[in-house]
Order: sequence, then C-alpha cells, then structure tokens
Amino acid sequence: MAQKRLGIGFVGGGFVGKFHIRSFVGVRDADVLGVVGGDDDSAQEAAALARSLGVGEARAFDSITDMVADPAIDAIWICAPNFTRLEVMEEIVQALESGKGDLVGIACEKPLGRTAAEARKMLELVKRAGVLDGYLENQLFSPGVIRGKEILWARGASLTGPPFLARAAEEHSGPHMPWFWEGELQGGGVLNDMMCHSVEVARHLLTAPGSPRDSLTPVKVTAQISCLKWQQPKYAKALALGSDGMLDYENRPSEDFARALVEYYDRAGNVKIVEATTSWCFVGAGLRLSMELLGPEYSMSLSSLDSGPKVFFSREVQGDAGEDLVEKQNAEVGLMPVVSDEESEYGYVGENRHMVRCFLEGKRPDENFEDGVNVAELLMTAYMSAEEGRTIEFPPPGLEEFVPAVARGEWNPKRTG
Ligand SMILES: NC(=O)c1ccc[n+]([C@@H]2O[C@H](COP(=O)([O-])OP(=O)(O)OC[C@H]3O[C@@H](n4cnc5c(N)ncnc54)[C@H](O)[C@@H]3O)[C@@H](O)[C@H]2O)c1
Repeated sequence: MAQKRLGIGFVGGGFVGKFHIRSFVGVRDADVLGVVGGDDDSAQEAAALARSLGVGEARAFDSITDMVADPAIDAIWICAPNFTRLEVMEEIVQALESGKGDLVGIACEKPLGRTAAEARKMLELVKRAGVLDGYLENQLFSPGVIRGKEILWARGASLTGPPFLARAAEEHSGPHMPWFWEGELQGGGVLNDMMCHSVEVARHLLTAPGSPRDSLTPVKVTAQISCLKWQQPKYAKALALGSDGMLDYENRPSEDFARALVEYYDRAGNVKIVEATTSWCFVGAGLRLSMELLGPEYSMSLSSLDSGPKVFFSREVQGDAGEDLVEKQNAEVGLMPVVSDEESEYGYVGENRHMVRCFLEGKRPDENFEDGVNVAELLMTAYMSAEEGRTIEFPPPGLEEFVPAVARGEWNPKRTG
C-alpha cells in the first residue's frame, strides 16, 4: 500500500538546503526530520529553520549513517558541496546495504557529479541500492517554465509545428562560498556550476510534453569559456582575501563566462538548437534567469527579474546590505525588482512536490539520475569544445575519463592566450 507521509533527511543545510526547507511550506505529505552538516553550525540552523516554519520536527544528526538508520527517515535530499557527492552517496548506500536502515528514495542537487564518470558512479550506486532517484533541477519546475511550455506546445506547436530554438541564461555576480570558485572542488567554473541548469531547461522546453528525453538526440556541442572579470588583479585580490588565500585567480582561475550551442535531432531528423550562456560577472539587481523558446509562428520569453513588484529607495535610505529583495542582490537603493516568492519562482516548491509524490507512490521521478548523467556528459563535452576551440560530435571518445583543465587547476586563459 502506498505510504502516506514522507520523512526527509537533508545532507547539507547550507544555502540550498535552507532554500529547499523553506519551499516545504508549499509541499504536502512530507516532513523535514533531519539534517547532517559538515564542520559548521548549518545543520543545527537548518533544523531550527524547519521547526520554526512548521515543516517538520527536524533535528541535527551526527552522521549520515545515524540519519539513514532512523526509522522516521524515508528519503534523503543530498545538498552538500560537489566535492563530497561520492563520499556522501557511498555512506548512504553502505548504511542501506549493511541493513542499518531503509529508504524509498534519494534526491540529489546539481551537479550529479563533477565529471561524467562521477555522475555515472552516482547512478550505479543508486541502482545498486535499489531505491528511487530524483535529480534536483529546480528550473524545470518553475511556474513560468511549466505554463510557458504548456501554452506554446498546446497552441503554437500543435497548429504550426514544434519549436526549434531554446535559449537559456543564468547570471549573477559570483557564488557565495569559496569552494564554488575553486575548480578542483567544484568541478569547474560557471559552466559546471550554472550551465547545468541552462542546458537542461532549454532541452526540456524543446521536448514535446510527455515525451521522453531520448526523443531528442544530442549530436554536436560548440562552447567557449573565458575569465572576463575575476582574473583582473583587483578582483583576483578580493577573491584571495575572501578565501584566506585559498583562491589564486591570477594564476589558477576558473571560467566566469561560458556559452554553448548544443545541437539535437528529433526523431524525424529535424535540427533543434539549445543556446546557453552563463556568467559570474553580471552586476545587475541580482540573480537573473532568462529563457526563450522559438517556433515557426510563436515565441515566449521569461526573465526572473521581471516577476513581482518593483520598489524604489532614494539615496537617503542607507540601510544594511542584504538579500531580502532577490537572491545575490547587488544594491539596496534605486529601482529594484523583488522576487516575492523565490522558492516557488525558481521551481523548488514544484520540484519538491514532484519528488515527494513520486517517492510516496513508488514511482521514479520524471527528472532522475539518468538526466543528471546526461547533463554531466553535455557539460564535459562543452569543456572539451572550449579547450580545443572546435565543434565536438557527441558523444566524443574519452568522455567518461575527461576532467576539464579548469578542474585540474591547469587552465589560465592569460597564459594560453
Ligand atoms: N539548484 C540550485 O540552483 C542550487 C543553488 C545553490 C547550490 N546548489 C547545489 O547545492 C549543493 C550545496 O550548495 P550550497 O550553496 O548549499 O553550499 P553551502 O556551502 O552553502 O552549504 C553546504 C552544506 O553542506 C554541508 N557539508 C559540507 N561537507 C559535508 C559533508 N561531507 N557531509 C555533509 N554535509 C556537508 C555544510 O556544512 C553546509 O551545510 C551544491 O552541490 C550546489 O551545486 C544548487
């Protein structure tokens, strides 16, 4: 018989873990009951946040194994940093295989792995454990994407033909924690960090409603990366200062700009193009997600900064800096957009509803580890293309073992010209 409520444990209670926890005010039939963190206070803070919002009687656990062993925990959401993915997953699977606990599902934040090989290993581990898997790509569940896609396919595509071009961009002024900036820890720069969203949401928009991922076949990838802002001495110094000297962007930068074209064929042999661009050097109001979908007689466009109210503060209003108007906010004066319900607008509420329902009904989520593997493969091919300065046919030889030069600490656009 189908289970009635899902008890969830979080691995990682930092920035995105807390975003998820706040989203659970809009998710039925689930309780946030546990958080495991690293060597900071974020697990206690995240558990307190869950309790204060009334989304579950969460407590901080000392270890992943202890959390899996708690009979009240039915599913794990992995929200720890990229460089801990495999060790986190291995501990969960070890706890399950040694009979310490039971789970129905595991949901994992992007990226599924820092390389194609890591992502595939995650998929192998979840299959071995025999539990359901969800890949947490929130942008597919953003209300604007869901409604825009429904309307364009129902009205425009049904009468005049399917869409052929999707554009997606994600930009902000740079990540909030030093580990994101360090190529080896994160797996790359902005391409790995944010283009995972853009390539996937654009592919999703081009895919007919209800059709499987393999209704579109990726055939070619062309990409470019650069470090436009953060290798400049003034900004490189700021990164070094903000990371206790860990980051050395003058000599060992990661890319802060990336763009990619992914060419697909549909089953009838028609070409579909995904055009994705991302940067950590956008100084606007804050995080900006943009998407477009174009077909023969129709189009849609969406910008996360266009949603909701705008507020204005004169220069006399000299309050504290904050992120109360929008994620990665850059100013508190002048005309500013407000994203009123970020957890919903960016898709976390819809995503978590979907994952919870699937896990409770014993169904594999629509977005799962197979999708995470394919995204990692596309991103690695994009790095190959950028490094070689040419279009690469997909899938290229050596994809599985490929580690980008950025992630090896060996990329420096100033040195190589
Ligand atoms: N969907 C999105 O838009 C989005 C946004 C931000 C981050 N993310 C992804 O979420 C993940 C976490 O990012 P973040 O911004 O929350 O990072 P963060 O640094 O703010 O938080 C990381 C959390 O993981 C914990 N942690 C560290 N090592 C751990 C370990 N070995 N075991 C368990 N917990 C550990 C830390 O204590 C902290 O609570 C990353 O993979 C990132 O790519 C996704």
